[in-house]
Amino acid sequence: MLVRYFAFLSFRIFQGVLAALYSNPAGLVKHEYDFVIVGAGTAGNVIANRLSADSNVSVLLVEAGGNDAGLPALQIPFTASTVLSNASLIWNYTTSPQKALNGRVIAYQRGRVLGGSSSINFMFYTRGSRDDFDRFADVTGDSGWSWGSIFPYMLKIENFTTPVDHHNTSGQFNPSIHGDRGPLRPTLPGFPSSLDQRVLATTKVDPERFPFNLDVNSGNTIGMTWVQSTTGNGVRSSSATGYLHPILGRPNLDVLIDTQATRVLQTGSRGSIPIVRGVELANGVSGPRVTVHAHHEVILCAGAVNTPQLMLLSGIGNKHDLASLGISTVIHSPGVGQNLQDHPLLASAWSVNSNDTLDGISRNATLAGEILEQWETSKTGPFVDTGGNLFAWLRLPSIFSGKRDPSAGPTSAHVEIIPANEFISFSGDPTPANGSYVSIITGVISPASRGSVTLRSANPFDTPVIDPGFFTNELDVAAMVGAIRTSSALLETGPWKDLAARPFGLLENATTDAELAEYARNSASSFWHPTGTVKMGTSSDEMAVLDSKLRVKGAEGLRVVDASVFPFIPASHPQAPIYAIAERAADIIRSQLYERVGE
Ligand SMILES: Cc1cc2nc3c(=O)[nH]c(=O)nc-3n(C[C@H](O)[C@H](O)[C@H](O)COP(=O)(O)OP(=O)(O)OC[C@H]3O[C@@H](n4cnc5c(N)ncnc54)[C@H](O)[C@@H]3O)c2cc1C
Ligand SMILES: *[C@@H]1O[C@H](CO)[C@@H](O)[C@H](O)[C@H]1NC(C)=O
Ligand SMILES: *[C@@H]1O[C@H](CO)[C@@H](O)[C@H](O)[C@H]1NC(C)=O
Ligand SMILES: *[C@@H]1O[C@H](CO)[C@@H](O)[C@H](O)[C@H]1NC(C)=O
Ligand SMILES: *[C@@H]1O[C@H](CO)[C@@H](O)[C@H](O)[C@H]1NC(C)=O
Ligand SMILES: *[C@@H]1O[C@H](CO)[C@@H](O)[C@H](O)[C@H]1NC(C)=O
Ligand SMILES: *[C@@H]1O[C@H](CO)[C@@H](O)[C@H](O)[C@H]1NC(C)=O
Ligand SMILES: *[C@@H]1O[C@H](CO)[C@@H](O)[C@H](O)[C@H]1NC(C)=O
Ligand SMILES: *[C@@H]1O[C@H](CO)[C@@H](O)[C@H](O)[C@H]1NC(C)=O
Ligand SMILES: *[C@@H]1O[C@H](CO)[C@@H](O)[C@H](O)[C@H]1NC(C)=O
Repeated sequence: MLVRYFAFLSFRIFQGVLAALYSNPAGLVKHEYDFVIVGAGTAGNVIANRLSADSNVSVLLVEAGGNDAGLPALQIPFTASTVLSNASLIWNYTTSPQKALNGRVIAYQRGRVLGGSSSINFMFYTRGSRDDFDRFADVTGDSGWSWGSIFPYMLKIENFTTPVDHHNTSGQFNPSIHGDRGPLRPTLPGFPSSLDQRVLATTKVDPERFPFNLDVNSGNTIGMTWVQSTTGNGVRSSSATGYLHPILGRPNLDVLIDTQATRVLQTGSRGSIPIVRGVELANGVSGPRVTVHAHHEVILCAGAVNTPQLMLLSGIGNKHDLASLGISTVIHSPGVGQNLQDHPLLASAWSVNSNDTLDGISRNATLAGEILEQWETSKTGPFVDTGGNLFAWLRLPSIFSGKRDPSAGPTSAHVEIIPANEFISFSGDPTPANGSYVSIITGVISPASRGSVTLRSANPFDTPVIDPGFFTNELDVAAMVGAIRTSSALLETGPWKDLAARPFGLLENATTDAELAEYARNSASSFWHPTGTVKMGTSSDEMAVLDSKLRVKGAEGLRVVDASVFPFIPASHPQAPIYAIAERAADIIRSQLYERVGE
């Protein structure tokens, strides 16, 4: 499934800083903390940073993976996809056979390293829409999740950074809606692509279909826009680089890497309510189990796959499913692991009459070596960007007319299209040895399908069963077909004519809707955006595992903050929404801490 192969590149390894990190639970000096956070990923590092800013609060942050520092493979934007085949940095998950994808098994990697998936993702930086957040407020009954309430957190997370080529960014984003003091460094593309002017020209010749949007991070996401990505100064900006490394010297924060939480533990009861303030840890299948306790809370930030897995392993889930695996139920909560939502994605390629694509980089080791050297010495050149420099979010009203539209509202897209100046495949097609290509990545961004994360066994080192249910709702297939047709239409507008784009590979013979649907079933995979598996909601919603303050219903001392908590997947690449909800969660936790201390 690999996107780009760079086997011949030998990265120069820079020595990383290893401060205040434990790598074995047996080495811990303390076993009691105010807070124990499981998962030093996107959300976990935000929580660890904000809670440990109070020097009176002691925090243990536990991470299954290792240190991200000093690994060029994690730093170079353009080669991000190579990390997906490095077993030491990922949870190398796959899905169960997807029946609506003709039984195919799909790669489903997650980050397993400080920074979590923010250390291995493709760095698109998008906040989601006004309607997405207003829907969260609606279904939770908590206006604190509305777009208006979350927006200040969107500013708080970022320090919007000048692109590395210092080009004039006027007309490429709206500076007035960005932050300049936060830990993350989003930026605009730092190396021009020969496609950029064609894409922009399309928004002028066909603004009905491809409207230009100055900044899709404004709350209204619809249109063609310049990509913002977490690649400030030409290097990946992650929750590890932004939120964790700068605070590793804090004496009230211990960080334990290479250590997996295997269960959360009931430590007492208040009436009939279990108190869950213990965490069992192990560094390896046969390593001894070590238990740590939280005075205040255990906060699960293990992501949308591992958080429900850990809860189920701990007896928090559907009691019938738990019983069948011999796990005794601590809290019957039927929503744990359900409601999995993800964005299906596929890349289509067209061969083009051009000698100005990026295809040469993956075929010519000398050229790639030169570009790498440019990145190493000046953090400029083609490696500073992740791929396409512009992309579009579009609504396809005709597909949904008369149907129940799964999108949150008119500011949320149905589909995404990302033009890229090279051959890209996510379905295992080898990069052709010759020719020039334009690829267009399409995604269904407001999916109607739902899936689940369940246990394969009661063994915490066994992989969970991940079933995103891709295309199980026919509307998603129709939306993907619509996105592919829209991509073809883009290439037929005037500004692209001279390329004479010809569909390549399986797309070659797919013309009818039925053929395109079959092409999609044979080619689609995951955007790696699982969300929703431990959703928040109202007290009357039995499938809502969390209350609107992200506390596990029916427990004391246990909270969840990560991609699991969304009741609906944002119509967005999810990292910015996750950072923002984690910032609000940190505020909630701190205010409740003082209420509790004052009890
Ligand atoms: C290949 C790829 C490309 C992506 N591209 C983009 C993109 O371009 N833009 C975007 O916005 N989003 C993108 N995403 C999605 C985005 O990165 C994730 O949605 C987000 O990072 C998830 O954040 P999280 O906090 O929920 O989980 P994570 O960041 O995954 O953090 C979970 C952490 O918990 C640790 N952990 C898990 N289980 C345990 C345990 N039992 N004990 C201890 N530690 C544990 C994990 O190792 C990990 O470090 C991409 C994701 C991937 C994988
Ligand atoms: C820390 O605790 C001490 C002693 O309990 C108290 O005097 C001080 O105000 C606290 N500081 C903060 C920042 O809460
Ligand atoms: C990940 O799993 C897939 C499917 O089992 C396998 O083909 C691949 O080699 C694994 N990758 C790594 C890096 O271990
Ligand atoms: C894979 O990750 C390890 C760190 O865990 C690193 O040492 C190694 O260089 C990486 N390999 C590649 C090919 O990037
Ligand atoms: C940047 O471009 C805008 C619009 O094209 C122009 O008004 C402005 O003067 C330019 N700024 C600089 C510093 O060149
Ligand atoms: C914001 O980023 C710039 C450039 O990368 C840096 O010089 C500045 O110190 C950063 N500001 C903060 C508050 O971190
Ligand atoms: C690249 O294409 C342009 C225009 O199609 C042509 O003029 C030029 O000769 C080509 N260059 C090479 C090296 O093939
Ligand atoms: C490979 O790249 C180098 C450096 O840019 C260039 O000199 C050489 O001609 C390229 N080789 C081929 C076969 O294109
Ligand atoms: C690639 O090479 C093959 C065989 O050498 C040839 O048949 C084919 O036409 C070439 N394709 C392109 C796109 O140049
Ligand atoms: C498309 O159809 C033609 C004619 O039947 C066939 O030669 C070609 O191999 C097909 N292409 C693909 C990718 O299946």
